[in-house]
Amino acid sequence: MVGESIVVRLVLCMSVLISLLLTSSAQTCKSQTFTNNKVFTSCSDLPHLSSYLHWTYNQSTGKLDLAFRHSQITAPDRWVAWAINPDNNLNSAMIGAQALVAISQSSGAPTVYTSSIASYSTQLAEGNISYAHSGLSATRENSEITIYAILTLPMGTTSLVHLWQDGPLSGSTPQIHNTSSSNLQAKQNLHLLSGSAPTPAPAPAGSNVPSLSNRINVAAIHVLTTLSVVACILY
Ligand SMILES: *[C@@H]1O[C@H](CO)[C@@H](O)[C@H](O)[C@H]1NC(C)=O
Ligand SMILES: *[C@@H]1O[C@H](CO)[C@@H](O)[C@H](O)[C@H]1NC(C)=O
Ligand SMILES: *[C@@H]1O[C@H](CO)[C@@H](O)[C@H](O)[C@H]1NC(C)=O
Repeated sequence: MVGESIVVRLVLCMSVLISLLLTSSAQTCKSQTFTNNKVFTSCSDLPHLSSYLHWTYNQSTGKLDLAFRHSQITAPDRWVAWAINPDNNLNSAMIGAQALVAISQSSGAPTVYTSSIASYSTQLAEGNISYAHSGLSATRENSEITIYAILTLPMGTTSLVHLWQDGPLSGSTPQIHNTSSSNLQAKQNLHLLSGSAPTPAPAPAGSNVPSLSNRINVAAIHVLTTLSVVACILY
């Protein structure tokens, strides 16, 4: 009888711990679905602008099959973009970025095209990008805009610097995006193969807010884990 209750207690403690670990690593993107029933092998909740990236990468062909989703777009007229910086330059990621741009207007489905960004004063004019691509399309469902594409990356690519953004339109022409810190920090280094949580973009000079909040999250998980272990042992 005594042995049995210890086993029961251990099982309970283990389930508490496991559910705690699963909760702390749960990603919103894992529950997202796509209108065309497409399934991707990896996804990541991006750290800014309510955005998510889903992808399947075949390293031997260099083909990156992706869906970029930006949620919480409330304005009927809005542009949304996802881009790669081919120079792997995280600091000034926007310059040289090879972008996929969706223009969503109150009338009809979004239009989508490619744009190569040469300067900070870009209006995201349509133009060729340096990656071969296919399947470029975009959808809008309520406040969610999703861009789909298959890009061919250079041989040997295993990670990339990517960036994402949204902004207002004048007619159908993109206008400058907000320059709040979350907009300016909407970029990171993405590890294509691991599919694990990528390292967050470093905080801009003079600001330690993101790294501090990361530390608080980690500290909170440690405190919760310790408390649940103590509770399990005591009861
Ligand atoms: C990658 O593409 C090659 C060529 O199409 C295919 O043979 C291989 O199975 C693919 N690998 C994966 C992991 O899908
Ligand atoms: C874009 O690429 C296509 C096909 O390679 C080419 O015909 C076209 O001239 C290019 N457009 C620009 C603006 O460079
Ligand atoms: C820019 O972003 C900030 C922070 O999210 C917000 O308070 C502000 O209203 C935004 N400005 C515009 C013009 O959208």
